[in-house]
Amino acid sequence: MKAVILAGGFATRLSPITKVTNKHLLPVYNKPLIFYAIEKLVAAFIDRIIIVTSPWHINDFVNLLGSGQGFISKNTGKQIQIVYGIQNEPSGIAQGLYIAKDYIGQDNSVLYLGDNIFEDDLTSYIRDFQEGAMVFLKQVEDPRRFGIVTVDENNKVLEIEEKPQKPKSNLAVTGLYIYDKTVFDKMIGQSTSERGEYEISYINNLYIKEEKLKAVLLKKEWFDAGTFDSLLQASCFMQKKYREKEDKN
Ligand code: G1P
Repeated sequence: MKAVILAGGFATRLSPITKVTNKHLLPVYNKPLIFYAIEKLVAAFIDRIIIVTSPWHINDFVNLLGSGQGFISKNTGKQIQIVYGIQNEPSGIAQGLYIAKDYIGQDNSVLYLGDNIFEDDLTSYIRDFQEGAMVFLKQVEDPRRFGIVTVDENNKVLEIEEKPQKPKSNLAVTGLYIYDKTVFDKMIGQSTSERGEYEISYINNLYIKEEKLKAVLLKKEWFDAGTFDSLLQASCFMQKKYREKEDKN
C-alpha cells in the first residue's frame, strides 16, 4: 500500500495567511499541518508517500521534508520514501490522485487530504484492506461544506452527494480514502462538476454502484483544518494533548 497526500490549492479561505505559503505548511500547535498526515500514515506502517502539490510551493515541501529523512518506517527501521507530484492547476481531488497513477502502479492506495487531521488509529483499516474502496465518516454541523452520505436502515451507503444544498444527513465523508487499483480506470471519461473540479465523490459513487464501497464511522476527533476556526481548534486540541502527555512523563 502506498499513500498519496494532496497538498495543493490556493486556500483562499485562509487568505492572507496563505498568500505566500501553502496551507499545509502552516503550524498546528508545534509542527506544520502536513506532519500530522505523514505521521499518521507512518504509524499505520506506510513507508512510501507521494505528496502532490502546486509548482509554486513544491520547493518549500522539498526543503521541509526532503526525501523523507525525518520519518522512520515501522517496517524497515530506516527512513520512509517521500516523492513529489506536481498539480499545475487545482482541478479537484480525483485529478490530484490521477497525478500519482504511475507511482501507485498496481498497488492499493491511501488518499489523504493533507489538511485533515485524524485521531483514530488507521493501522487495521490499511492492513486489512483488500479490494474496492473505503471511506471514513464523521458527523458534522455544517453538511453543506462536505460530501454527505445517504445510508439505508442497515447503515449501508446508498449515495454520496457533494456539498448538497439540502443535505439528507449530517454524515460527512472525511478526507481519507482507501482504493484498489481500479480507481484510476474509474476516472476515464469523468467530467468536471459545476465548480469545475474532478470530484472524488463521483469516483466513490461508482464504487457504490459496484457494491464495493465500505464506510467506517470514525470514533475520535477529526479536523478539516481549512478554515481559521478549524485551524485554531486543531492547534488548541494538540496543545492540550501535548501538555497531557508531558504531565504524564
Ligand atoms: C473535499 C471533498 C468532500 C469531503 C471533504 C473532506 O471537499 O470533496 O467530499 O467531504 O473534502 O475534507 P473540499 O476540500 O474540496 O471542499
